[in-house]
Amino acid sequence: MTGRRRWIVTGASSGIGRAIARDAPEEGDAVVIVARRRPALESLRDEMVRRDLEVAVVDGDIREQETIERAAEAAEVFGGLDCLVNSAGGGFPSPIEEVSANAWRAIFRLNTEAVFLLSNRVFPLLCDAAAGCIVNIGSAAGWAIDPNVAPYAASKAAMHHLTRHQAVEWARYGIRANVIAPGPTAVDGNRWSTDEGREQVRSMAALGVPAEARDVVALMRFLVSDDARMITGQVLNVDGGFVGWPLTPHG
Ligand SMILES: NC(=O)c1ccc[n+]([C@@H]2O[C@H](COP(=O)([O-])OP(=O)(O)OC[C@H]3O[C@@H](n4cnc5c(N)ncnc54)[C@H](OP(=O)(O)O)[C@@H]3O)[C@@H](O)[C@H]2O)c1
Repeated sequence: MTGRRRWIVTGASSGIGRAIARDAPEEGDAVVIVARRRPALESLRDEMVRRDLEVAVVDGDIREQETIERAAEAAEVFGGLDCLVNSAGGGFPSPIEEVSANAWRAIFRLNTEAVFLLSNRVFPLLCDAAAGCIVNIGSAAGWAIDPNVAPYAASKAAMHHLTRHQAVEWARYGIRANVIAPGPTAVDGNRWSTDEGREQVRSMAALGVPAEARDVVALMRFLVSDDARMITGQVLNVDGGFVGWPLTPHG
């Protein structure tokens, strides 16, 4: 795709979403950045403006319709939308039997329902784009069984499948939809960026090291480009061989 692209990136205040918003768009692109923490979004905006990107800050909970509306309206002010990136997401560890109904619903509202609602709200904008593109940030947990994260893993698996439906049902409108599914990824002092976390990954993934946000950014740049014009409905792992790791001990 050539020319100025218009983006929405949710979950842009930290980690993977922040790196995508900052580094995936090209000079001259316009980006709506969404998350709850406004100061973090404002510092990101300052960095992005220095890269000659146009930026609109939308602070709010993406589970709320009002935030979804403001994000879509900000894209409309930019004249439309080419790339929707749903990176807002999260969960917390707990054995299944201790997960409350409210916790289950909160995680599904963030990881699955918000993706569905925002995608549907901006669907007309993506239809009008020359080559509308959705990239949802899923998780290797949506494939593999990582004990004690059942609501997170199930909500990501549902999101993976939602994306396949978007790809098939919206292909006629020229929209492609894919998932990037990271494995353990070191960001902003999370568990995978500590010595203990890195040591754990040595026996969890074939390559033995956590991914970094830049690994996701590299695939994002490809997926939104014309080089990926035949790629849709895919769940692409960036996981150093986490999902493919053998079940028996391996040296
Ligand atoms: N890092 C990993 O190992 C890994 C592995 C697999 C998948 N992922 C996925 O990658 C994505 C980014 O995760 P990360 O590791 O970069 O974690 P992170 O730094 O915690 O980023 C999560 C982002 O989502 C935003 N967010 C959370 N709840 C929100 C809400 N209700 N409304 C709006 N924004 C919300 C957060 O911003 P605010 O707090 O400001 O709202 C933040 O910007 C997530 O979807 C995660 O599931 C990460």
